[in-house]
Amino acid sequence: MKQTVGPIGVFDSGYGGLTILGKIRESLPQYNYIYLGDNARTPYGTRSFEVVYQFTLEAVRKLFELGCPLVILACNTASAKALRSIQQCDLPHLAPANRVLGVIRPTVEAIGTVTRSRHVGVLATVGTIKSDSYPLEIKKLYPDIHVTGQACPLWVPLVENREYASDGADYFVSKYIDSLLDKDPLIDTFILGCTHYPLLMEKIRRFTPPGIRLVAQGEYVAASLKDYLHRHPEMKSRCSVGGQCEFLTTESAAKFQESASVFLQQEVSVRRIVLE
Ligand code: DGL
Repeated sequence: MKQTVGPIGVFDSGYGGLTILGKIRESLPQYNYIYLGDNARTPYGTRSFEVVYQFTLEAVRKLFELGCPLVILACNTASAKALRSIQQCDLPHLAPANRVLGVIRPTVEAIGTVTRSRHVGVLATVGTIKSDSYPLEIKKLYPDIHVTGQACPLWVPLVENREYASDGADYFVSKYIDSLLDKDPLIDTFILGCTHYPLLMEKIRRFTPPGIRLVAQGEYVAASLKDYLHRHPEMKSRCSVGGQCEFLTTESAAKFQESASVFLQQEVSVRRIVLE
């Protein structure tokens, strides 16, 4: 594949990655972007390694075909289950000069300066928790930090169904937070390890005891991408500028349009595509 100049690709299983895209565009407004949501097959959080890997690879391939030299997996589940295999096994023959980056590493790098008790809790999908990606990555950088995970299987459906502000959501938000703190009462920092969770921020804050810090990923991922492009001028020069963003979904365009406006607080035009 020849070395293309094109938009930065941002991929998520659904709408969650829009929270990351928003922060990236705030920090790097000059570039063009393509956002791809695999809404027809969301959620990924309960799917097996094989399936998340296959779906994520299809999305990365599509974004490469559309000219993206760089793809951000704005999904913890995909970053946990597919990123390493794609980087190590697929990129070398698919497009050796292209790059795929995830959201876990930038979050983990930031955590060392946030926690004082050195006890950190991770709230994430079943898939991300089961993968052990957060504890493994945190241990590599900060061996003194104690990490406890809590799967929150109902949080993504609450967001995808736009129930994140409803009274009904209270029960499931408090349930997972209480369960995490029961496992380790010394936790002073929660990582919101799923890109959907910033939409639940108001409720998460309400049910989190004061003194516990909440770490959402968008700003860290955006700062890390900025730094990456600074350190890699060969990639920076392949990212097209113009400030445009194209939105693609595997579900109905009308449905995506309606929900995306909630995440981004703006109207967007969307095109439906098929992944295979
Ligand atoms: N937004 C994805 C993440 O960050 C999860 C959503 C899903 O389960 O598909 O993990």
